[in-house]
Amino acid sequence: MSKISDNMKQLSYGLYAVLTMDGDRPTGCIMNTVFQISNDPVTVAIGINKNNYTADVIRSSGCFSVSILSEQSPRKVITDLGFRSGRDCNKLEELNYSMVDGLPVLNEQISGAFTCQVESVADAGTHYLILAKVSEAVDASELRPMTYRYYHENVKNAPVGDGNSVKYVCDICGYVHEGDINDEPDDYRCPMCGVLKSYFKKA
Ligand SMILES: Cc1cc2nc3c(=O)[nH]c(=O)nc-3n(C[C@H](O)[C@H](O)[C@H](O)COP(=O)(O)O)c2cc1C
Repeated sequence: MSKISDNMKQLSYGLYAVLTMDGDRPTGCIMNTVFQISNDPVTVAIGINKNNYTADVIRSSGCFSVSILSEQSPRKVITDLGFRSGRDCNKLEELNYSMVDGLPVLNEQISGAFTCQVESVADAGTHYLILAKVSEAVDASELRPMTYRYYHENVKNAPVGDGNSVKYVCDICGYVHEGDINDEPDDYRCPMCGVLKSYFKKA
């Protein structure tokens, strides 16, 4: 099994904000599994965890948008959309977006964006594989799309702060804690993703 997972880690991906509408409230999550499957009609597939609230909303609304993150997209896009659930909060509250084809699309330094209508949903164990037809697209930008590897090397583990004050960074989501984490109580949890303080590393 470890040979299989070692090889799975060598697959390359991009990074995307997959957004949808929960009634009149925008929501969505960060995904690396977005792929073009065919040309005519232009069809994409996404692999979404069954536990994600976004999966429930896409299955009931039948549509979603894909914003292609660029190397310039702010880290906040990933922490706000990728480390908390739309079940508990309005994830788009502090992000810039426009409505395209009735769906939210990010205005946060993206490489491009398009909207999709769900065609079919297949059961893939922990995930759904959702096939969808692309219906509309915005003008693509010149910004280089962010790859999964770029995210790990330059965003998640990026150096933070001015070097003058003590900072600790959550190893799971990248949240930056100002001051010494050891001064926090033992049951302190990351305000972004909820892990214990043992997951924080000095920046
Ligand atoms: C870099 C990154 C890539 C991710 N890729 C996927 C993915 O491909 N599929 C998925 O279901 N979740 C993925 N996630 C996790 C969801 O974004 C995350 O669980 C989110 O909090 C779900 O929110 P929701 O409950 O509002 O849908 C990814 C998260 C990150 C940070």
